[in-house]
Amino acid sequence: MSGTGSARYRIRGQPALTGLTVRDRLMKRDYILASIAIVLAAGSGSTAAAQGVEDGATYFGQHCQMCHTKTSGERNGVGPNLFGVGNRKAGSSANFSYTPALKSSKLVWTQKTLDKFLAMPGAMVPGTMMVVSIPDAGQRQTLITYLMTLKK
Ligand code: HEC
Repeated sequence: MSGTGSARYRIRGQPALTGLTVRDRLMKRDYILASIAIVLAAGSGSTAAAQGVEDGATYFGQHCQMCHTKTSGERNGVGPNLFGVGNRKAGSSANFSYTPALKSSKLVWTQKTLDKFLAMPGAMVPGTMMVVSIPDAGQRQTLITYLMTLKK
């Protein structure tokens, strides 16, 4: 029975060790979580989606920026500020004088409506002053993915 006794002794004598083990385990958990975060961050930097947003920003700079601003509260240009344009009602940016055509269009800017609009604005909203079109469907998609990121 001395075996049992020493076993009990060892268990009783373990709090310090157990404490260490728990801390070790926590550290290990934090380490694993941190590693996962790093892997995720590294992964997202190289995904097609992130690349698409980057390309979209480039297209925006090339085709839209001369008339549209894109950050919160920025002044309107020749066209309205496009911050938060995704899922926004058409013609609803504050302090911009829209054409009656766009203002009364009752459109909401989704992937789908933006795609149709940007393909040929005047065909979708006759009378709009937005005349720039992006004929290439792939380029349009990339641009719209980017537009959808312009939000809080
Ligand atoms: C030459 C200036 C000009 C350029 C370049 C231009 N736009 Fe516009 N855009 C306008 C104007 C002006 C309006 C307002 C149209 C109206 O009131 O009918 C507008 C409206 C819009 C709207 C509707 C916004 C709302 O609040 O309802 C979207 C979306 C839009 N433009 C996207 C784009 C994108 C994307 C590009 C680049 C591919 C672009 N525009 C390039 C002038 C421009």
